[in-house]
Order: sequence, then C-alpha cells, then structure tokens
Amino acid sequence: MCALDVRPAIGTDRLILRGLTRADAPALAELANDPGVVGMTSQMPHPYAPADAEGFIDRARRADPRVEANFAVEHRQFGLVGVLAFDEMAPGKAEVGYWLGRPFWGRGYATEALTAALRWARADWRRNVVWAGHFADNRASGQVLVKAGFLYTGDVEWRPSAARGEPVPTRMMVWLA
Ligand SMILES: CC(C)(COP(=O)(O)OP(=O)(O)OC[C@H]1O[C@@H](n2cnc3c(N)ncnc32)[C@H](O)[C@@H]1OP(=O)(O)O)[C@@H](O)C(=O)NCCC(=O)NCCS
Repeated sequence: MCALDVRPAIGTDRLILRGLTRADAPALAELANDPGVVGMTSQMPHPYAPADAEGFIDRARRADPRVEANFAVEHRQFGLVGVLAFDEMAPGKAEVGYWLGRPFWGRGYATEALTAALRWARADWRRNVVWAGHFADNRASGQVLVKAGFLYTGDVEWRPSAARGEPVPTRMMVWLA
C-alpha cells in the first residue's frame, strides 16, 4: 500500500503538517521520551526509544491512506514539534489523536494544528464526522478539542495506556463538519 501523500502539506501561520520520514525519528523520540507526553496517549510506551519512533514512522508510511493519515507537525522556525494522526477505527469512526513535545506546549500550536487538520479531513479526506477521546485527567487536551469545535458525547470509555500500564477513563468527543 502506498504511503499517504500529503503534498502539498497543510500549512498554517506557524506550522506545516506533512508526511513523516525516517529523518524525523531522532527528534520524535527525543520529544516523546517524556512520561507527561506518552502518559496522555494510548499506544506510546515509556521510555520511548529511537526504535519506537522508527517503528511508528515505518508503520505510518505503510498505512492505507483511505483509513489512516499521520502527520508530522513541524514549526516553520523550530522544526518538528509533534505528531497528529487520524485513524478510522471502524467504518465511519475516524478518530484523531495528537501530541506535542513539552517545550512547545501552551502556545496554541495544538489548536492551530487540529483546526487545520480538520479542514483537511473535511475537504480532502472527505470525512464529516471525527471522533476523539482524552484521558479524564488531561484537561488541556479537552480544551484543545473544545476550541477546535468538538462536543462531549457524555460517554466515558476505559482506554489502555501503554505508558501507564493500566486503562484510563477517557472522555469521548465528536466533531461534525
Ligand atoms: C494536550 C496538548 C496537545 C496541548 O497542546 P498545546 O499546544 O499546549 O495546546 P493549546 O495551546 O492549543 O491549548 C491548550 C489549552 O489548554 C488549556 N490548559 C492547559 N493546561 C490546562 C489545565 N491543566 N487545565 C485546563 N486547561 C488547561 C490552555 O489554557 C489552553 O486553552 P486556552 O487557549 O483556552 O487558554 C499538549 O499539552 C500535549 O501534547 N500533551 C501531551 C500529549 C497529549 O495530551 N495528547 C493529547 C491526547 S488526547
């Protein structure tokens, strides 16, 4: 299966969302090797080694672009700052997830990236419903999702966390184009 071609990349004032390459692995691993980052995600382990980044990038590049879209989030000045990904867990159930390295928190980058990614998902990926879930103790991510237009469904699912080693209550949200 061919890798997702995201040319032209998605551009915003400060960021570029583009396909991942093997050259991203060292920076990705350095930013992700932080329990405060991976502990808010389901699948990322802690510690997060360069081999984890390489494996993630290789899987992302092999993914079927009809059901999965993985973007490097690159700052125009600072380079790679994080990752944003869509994954269709089941037909009609595209879910978005994202993370930024700690040095880049608190500057509106996640909201900027997610808002642009949703525009892409509607216009290019042809999705008019996108789901998301944030761990109940991750209020910053809830705020990002609210600012991007997601609404709480009221459902709480227990989702795994590889880094925490136990399931975590996860507040589900939905976005309608
Ligand atoms: C969650 C994360 C993506 C936020 O990225 P960011 O670029 O700092 O987000 P933004 O700056 O766009 O917005 C963050 C919002 O959360 C708010 N916020 C931050 N910490 C908060 C807290 N403890 N409680 C409530 N709101 C909080 C900020 O004030 C801001 O809202 P505002 O603009 O209305 O003031 C980033 O912290 C991260 O990558 N964390 C680790 C991985 C993760 O949580 N991924 C998401 C999994 S669902």
